[in-house]
Amino acid sequence: MSATAPPLPRLHIVTGKGGTGKTTVAAALALALAGPGRRVLLVEVEGRQGIAPLFDAPPLPYAERHLAAGLDGGEVFGQAVDADEALLDYLTMFYKLGTAGRALRKFGAIDFATTIAPGLRDILLTGKLKEAVSRTEAGRMAYDAVVLDAPPTGRIVKFLNVTVESGRLAKTGPIGKHSRSVARMLHSSLTAVHLVTTPAAMPVQETLDAHRELAAADLPVGRIVLNEVVGAKPVDVTEEQLREGLAKTGLPADERTVAALLDEYASSRIEIEAVDAYRDRLERLGRPVAELALLPEGVDLSGLYQLAETLRELGEPARPAPRAADDVEGGPGGD
Ligand SMILES: Nc1ncnc2c1ncn2[C@@H]1O[C@H](COP(=O)(O)OP(=O)(O)O)[C@@H](O)[C@H]1O
Ligand SMILES: [Mg+2]
Repeated sequence: MSATAPPLPRLHIVTGKGGTGKTTVAAALALALAGPGRRVLLVEVEGRQGIAPLFDAPPLPYAERHLAAGLDGGEVFGQAVDADEALLDYLTMFYKLGTAGRALRKFGAIDFATTIAPGLRDILLTGKLKEAVSRTEAGRMAYDAVVLDAPPTGRIVKFLNVTVESGRLAKTGPIGKHSRSVARMLHSSLTAVHLVTTPAAMPVQETLDAHRELAAADLPVGRIVLNEVVGAKPVDVTEEQLREGLAKTGLPADERTVAALLDEYASSRIEIEAVDAYRDRLERLGRPVAELALLPEGVDLSGLYQLAETLRELGEPARPAPRAADDVEGGPGGD
C-alpha cells in the first residue's frame, strides 16, 4: 500500500487553443473514464452547446442529463452550466432565497450581477464543478469523474484562479469560504488540466505558453493531447519502386503520374516530419503526450468512441505534475 501516492484526479479540465478539439477530446475522455459501473459528468460552461451535437442529443439543460453509455458499461451524463442559474442556486443555498431568487431573475438582477462582475461568473462556474466533484448520493460519490470542456488556453488560468483572488478579498462570509475551498480543490491532485493541441505552429506555441502559465500559478497539468495526427509512418520509396508498384497493380505509370505521386509523397513526408518536431517540443514539457489520429471522415459518434478507446488504452488518467518543485523549463532539455 502506498500511503504517499496522491489520489488520481477526478476533475479533468480540458483546454486548448480554440478549434484544436477541446470539445471532442473532453467528450472522448468522458467516455474513456466511464469504465464498468462508473458515472462520469461531462460539463460545458461557455453556452455554446458544443457537446450535445456530438452525441446526436438535443441541447443540454442546466440539470444533469444522461448522455451516453461509456466505453465499458459506465455512464456519461451531460450538463451545460450557466452562471445565472448557478447564481440562483447559491442564493437559494446560502440565503434561502427561493421564490425571491426567481423574482430577481425576472427583473434582470442576475444578468446585471454577472455582467458587472465578470469574475463572479467564473466563481459560480468553478463552484458548480466543486459541487459536482464532491457530491455524494446514497453513501457514494455521485460522480467518479467530472470532465470540463473548459475555456481556451488564453483564458484558462484566469478562469481557474478567480477563486484565489476572491478567497483573499472576502476574508469572511460565505463567498470567501466558498472561494477558498474551490481554490484548494483546483490546486490539488484531484484536478488535472489537460492541454489539447494540433500539430501546428500556433496551437503548439499556445500549449507551451499555457503550460508555463499553469505551472507558475501552481495549477496541476495532466496530459498533453496531440490531436488530429495524420497516421501514416514515412516509408522510403524510390521512383523505381513506385513505377514497379504502379505497373504491378495495372495503374498508369507514365512520367506525369509518377512525378505527381512523388510530389505528394514528398509533401506528406514533410508534414510527418513536422509532426515529429512538434511532438518533440511537447514531450520536453515532461508531461505524457497522448496522440489522437485525424479521423478522415470527421468525428461522428462512432469516431468519438474510437478516440475514447485510444485514450483508455493509454491507461489511467495522468497524475498531475508535481508542482512547485517542477523544473521543466530550466532543465537541460528545455528551450
Ligand atoms: N481527431 C479528429 N479527427 C477529425 N476531426 C476532428 C478531430 N478532432 C476534432 N475534429 C474536428 O475539428 C473541429 C473542431 O473540434 P472541436 O472539438 O469543436 O474543437 P474546439 O472545442 O477546441 O473548438 C470539429 O469539426 C471536430 O469534429
Ligand atoms: Mg468547443
